Amino acid sequence: MPSLIIVGGFYGDEGKGKIVSYIAEKDDCSIAVRGGVGPNAGHSIVWEGKTYRLRMLPSAFVNPRARLLIGPGVLVNPQVFLKEVEEVKAAGRCGLDPLCAIIEQKHIDQDRGSQHLSGKIGTTGTGTGPCNADRVNRTALLARDLPELKNYITDVPATVNEALEEGGRVLVEGTQGTFLSLFHGSYPFVTSKDVTASSIAADVGLGPTNVDDVVVVFKAYVTRVGSGFLKGELSPEETAKRGWAEYGTVTGRQRRAGPFDFDLARRAVMLNGATQLALTKLDIVYQESRGVTDYKDLPNEARDFIKKIEEETGVPVTLIGTGPAVEEVVDRREII
Ligand code: GTP
Ligand code: IMP
Ligand code: MG
Repeated sequence: MPSLIIVGGFYGDEGKGKIVSYIAEKDDCSIAVRGGVGPNAGHSIVWEGKTYRLRMLPSAFVNPRARLLIGPGVLVNPQVFLKEVEEVKAAGRCGLDPLCAIIEQKHIDQDRGSQHLSGKIGTTGTGTGPCNADRVNRTALLARDLPELKNYITDVPATVNEALEEGGRVLVEGTQGTFLSLFHGSYPFVTSKDVTASSIAADVGLGPTNVDDVVVVFKAYVTRVGSGFLKGELSPEETAKRGWAEYGTVTGRQRRAGPFDFDLARRAVMLNGATQLALTKLDIVYQESRGVTDYKDLPNEARDFIKKIEEETGVPVTLIGTGPAVEEVVDRREII
């Protein structure tokens, strides 16, 4: 795996945080680097009995040996970044690129105050869209302009590529999900840039020929927050009845839910060039899967579901989530 990119296959919130933290620990990655849009993302990680909610730092923080970096393509909210550095007690190993653009209060005000953005699109209100607009207009502040970030400034592309040359393992974390992509999603109900694997690689300065693996993460059902079409959308009552009710990490909004969508999964595999798939929350759909770590101990129905995903997409499902904790995973990467 020397370099591995993880991206979401649906509309975000597939449980990437948990899969990232599992791989970071298990494979002992030396570098974990975030691509993606910015603090509109939210990952929940249950680690050693505590739940962490991260919006800026890589979810790989659970491995104390990993350097935690943010690539130049990512927008940084300095308050959120500094608070998380404190929370995970990682000041000595965090870095962000001098070219990261900075979210200012005015961006947050514009996002929340806009009937189009917060009303029609249903944005997260974190200022990422207006900040990316300023970046495109070349008026945004950059991380190198802020004295309070001075101690964290790191040439992220150089650090990532040097680590690979020295034989280190680099884990690249994407955010949002394939169908929230500005290019490939259901425009206009999308985020403010592309979030497929190619852009995530560019966000951290990794050239396409230096990417070894792309893991696309799906959840056993589909959720979506904000506006836009969701195939087979269930009523809130039916969602709760099935145990699929979820609330956003960043906004607290109830997520809309529908069944696993094989057409979207096939397209996500194509758009991202997936080499492996991860499937989370299998235990929510097949309760007897809970806590299982050995593939042969999964119920037959759950294994049939996994086989169908593999047949429909042509890509192996190598990591399977069976509970909220980082270690509740079936790891069958030996099959590839
Ligand atoms: P990403 O944005 O894709 O990282 O997902 P997320 O972290 O935003 O998803 P969410 O906030 O919904 O958090 C996932 C929650 O589900 C966390 O509390 C995880 O511990 C939990 N979770 C992740 N994978 C599994 C799983 O396989 N089974 C169960 N029961 N819970 C899981
Ligand atoms: P924005 O990225 O805040 O501009 O929001 C645009 C759309 O993307 C809205 O529908 C948001 O709900 C959605 N979105 C952005 N980031 C995430 C995420 O991390 N998880 C889920 N949905 C997201
Ligand atoms: Mg999330």
